[in-house]
Amino acid sequence: MGGIFVSGTGTDVGKTYVTAAMVHHLRNAGKNVDAYKPVISGFDPKNSDSSDPAVLLSALGRTTTDDEIGRIAPWRFVPPLSPDLAAKAEGRAIDFNEVVEFSRRVAYGRGTIFIEGVGGIMVPLDQSHTVLDWMSALRIPVLLVAGSYLGTISHTLTALHVLAQRNLDIVGVVVSESTVPGANLDDTVETVARFASPIDVIGLPRLPLNELASDAVLSRIERLLM
Ligand SMILES: Nc1ncnc2c1ncn2[C@@H]1O[C@H](COP(=O)(O)OP(=O)(O)OP(=O)(O)O)[C@@H](O)[C@H]1O
Ligand SMILES: [Mg+2]
Repeated sequence: MGGIFVSGTGTDVGKTYVTAAMVHHLRNAGKNVDAYKPVISGFDPKNSDSSDPAVLLSALGRTTTDDEIGRIAPWRFVPPLSPDLAAKAEGRAIDFNEVVEFSRRVAYGRGTIFIEGVGGIMVPLDQSHTVLDWMSALRIPVLLVAGSYLGTISHTLTALHVLAQRNLDIVGVVVSESTVPGANLDDTVETVARFASPIDVIGLPRLPLNELASDAVLSRIERLLM
């Protein structure tokens, strides 16, 4: 399978949730899997246990030490801002080429390697590059995660259009059910799928805390990755 870039139509849509669920699923099936969140903003070292890298490490069955967090998430910023602004607020800057080199190095390991993006597909990383440029430089398949909130259909179709313009390989869309109001999940999935055809679109219901997504849904997502 190799590297998969998990991108989102925006922040908080479910990228980490879907990645962690897939890591669990693949590990349970005895498959080799790894996960990275190279760039993260809004990272509070005092609450690192609930951070994206901690969620991914725990799905991987690894301890959430500072070293491990640093290994899978080298670019960490405290301000909850886009990465370019978060870096600037800390008097730092992200070296885009270093992010690409790091991602290339880790993406060609054994098994399935998830690389979670940051925010939506055109979030700036520095003065002139966005996540889209990062994905374009890597040219690994993209799994797009979206929500089911009111407005998601346009956000998702816009994102797919932009990804296609860069000739990126879109393996599919996962609509992870939002808590805010919108159309019901099935109607959202059906509508996105109709406009996104032939791209596969899978709905992931909102599950209670600590309840795992069903094997049936996770197996469908796994098939997108193959
Ligand atoms: N299908 C779902 N069922 C239950 N909880 C979910 C589901 N999808 C997302 N969540 C929860 O919603 C919140 C936001 O999801 P998540 O952190 O995965 O978003 P994200 O896209 O990774 O955000 P960020 O841009 O910060 O990386 C988390 O608390 C997550 O556990
Ligand atoms: Mg996340």
